[in-house]
Amino acid sequence: MAHGRGMNERGAGSFRRGDVGERHKLRGWVHQRRDHGGVTFLNLRDRTGVVQVVVHPEEHPEAAAELAPARLEWLIEVEGTVTARGEQAVNPEMATGEVEIEAETARVVAASEPLPFTPDGPEASEETRLRYRYLDLRRQELLANLQLRHRVTMEILDYFDGEGFVTVETPILTRSTPEGARDYLVPSRVRRGSFYALPQSPQIFKQLLMVSGLERYVQIARCFRDEDLRADRQPEFTQVDVEMSFATEEKIFGLIEGLFARLFPLAGIEPRVPFPRLTWREAMRRFGTDRPDLRFGCEIVDLTAELGESGFRGFSATVAEGGVVRGLRAPGAAGASRREIDEWAETARAHGAAGVLWLRRRDGELRFQVGSALTEAELERAAARLELQEGDLGLIVAASEPVASAALGALRLVLGRGLGLIDESRHEFLWVHDFPLVEWNADEERWDACNHPFTAPRPEDEHLLEEAPASVLSRGYDVVLDGIELGGGSIRIHRRELQQRAFALLGIDAEEAEERFGWLLDALRYGAPPHGGIALGLDRLVMMLAGASSLRDVIAFPKTTSATCLMTDAPSAVDPRQLAELGLSGGGRPDDDSGE
Ligand code: AMO
Repeated sequence: MAHGRGMNERGAGSFRRGDVGERHKLRGWVHQRRDHGGVTFLNLRDRTGVVQVVVHPEEHPEAAAELAPARLEWLIEVEGTVTARGEQAVNPEMATGEVEIEAETARVVAASEPLPFTPDGPEASEETRLRYRYLDLRRQELLANLQLRHRVTMEILDYFDGEGFVTVETPILTRSTPEGARDYLVPSRVRRGSFYALPQSPQIFKQLLMVSGLERYVQIARCFRDEDLRADRQPEFTQVDVEMSFATEEKIFGLIEGLFARLFPLAGIEPRVPFPRLTWREAMRRFGTDRPDLRFGCEIVDLTAELGESGFRGFSATVAEGGVVRGLRAPGAAGASRREIDEWAETARAHGAAGVLWLRRRDGELRFQVGSALTEAELERAAARLELQEGDLGLIVAASEPVASAALGALRLVLGRGLGLIDESRHEFLWVHDFPLVEWNADEERWDACNHPFTAPRPEDEHLLEEAPASVLSRGYDVVLDGIELGGGSIRIHRRELQQRAFALLGIDAEEAEERFGWLLDALRYGAPPHGGIALGLDRLVMMLAGASSLRDVIAFPKTTSATCLMTDAPSAVDPRQLAELGLSGGGRPDDDSGE
């Protein structure tokens, strides 16, 4: 409410020396309490910070009596005068450390029972903190993250508004929008046996808005995906979802670079634009991943030419079967312990490799793990390719290309962190593009879309869709920061006939395509403009801006890795009557009117 600038508009954390002599009223929680020589010192906390309140019982007996019972996390209101602290009492650790508030009147607004944990007390377990999330959110750091998230959201909407984008809300109760995860389903009461799917993204709706002629769409959109969770994945998360008619890769890249150039300075990061670009193939070859962390080197080197025909069967047999020999340089790691090397081998094995072999340059001598399996010349050639310096270790993997790539990509990250090669003050943005359109799913024996089924192939590759799908490159792109995928998008298919061919390639026959996506295929009959877009992970963006290591730190009420909410205990059992109403079993099936 707009009250005009009253006395209590100042946050606890805002008081400075220049305020001395002013009277203010403030409300906040008791963050700390000390009684010393008959005087009470309370640290009062609100969302802006902490300030010390002093209560002198002789001068203000009523205030002292009122605050006498106040313990940690009681909510109180005080009115008093800002005074300068004596030189000895200045606390340089506190932003408000030069002043204190001398309470003249005081009131307990709400008492508190003893808490399961206090905001600056010893760390409680993750479980307890999630169970009492509203108390965990009293921590200054988490409150600051929520405020940062707000600021970022406002800036984003303002930026897109300035670029002529219109926000539109798309449905939550909808049909499946495939993005590669499982759907969350919601049963319909009215149409028994039928289900809505919660959107994995607003993908199809935003494309339809382009058919409508909206031209530029943006939405802060909630998305739902039932998939395996990690630190950077939540079952419900938020996208900055964008779509644009007549888009080209260049337009989308420029748009997002402009946005980041505005957002990242909020965290003291100045992105250099334009961002460098890597093709998917190059990213995989040099870094073993499609979201490389460019803050350090340690690039993957191909050693197939140097070692593929060596007498060492571990290499030659792999290469004879069509595999590769690749490696990377671990700078200064010649003295690595047995245990470290075992851990690295374990990382490689976790990605399907048989292990790693090392090559060491120490005390002027070059040594291979397997004694004399390699000739002196082979050793020298491999070491030269790896650029091994004195004191370095080379780590080598022989495997099929995808396995060698994945194993060395993972190893590179472990080395980057373990050997302290990552300069945390650096930030490296990049675009990855030219992804394959589809990948072979050996388990299901079919082609899967690498992105989603609406991504356009490069025009020059369209003719290969049926005869050589694996060689078709897409018009998809990802934006990556320090090894985290912040967003992904593509130029879309806008021709009905091409969309039908894409469905057919993915094993979706005409009948199924009509049943699942008939409404999209219909829309493409009626003058659909070329279009494209992108979606940024808002949670990930704020996580990077906040310097947090988990999405949980930037989401008010996050879920655990098993997709539960410990505070509300969702998901939960429901009343059998509710199930019966929905025609679902579990509550005793009602009269089954589905006909079968
Ligand atoms: P995509 O699936 O790549 O693309 O998602 C876009 C971005 O959303 C974020 N993200 C997630 N964040 C938190 N938890 C999750 N489970 C999660 N899954 C994805 C990531 C990711 O880069 N419709 C397309 C976009 C498009 O083509 O325009 C899409 O959803 O930061």
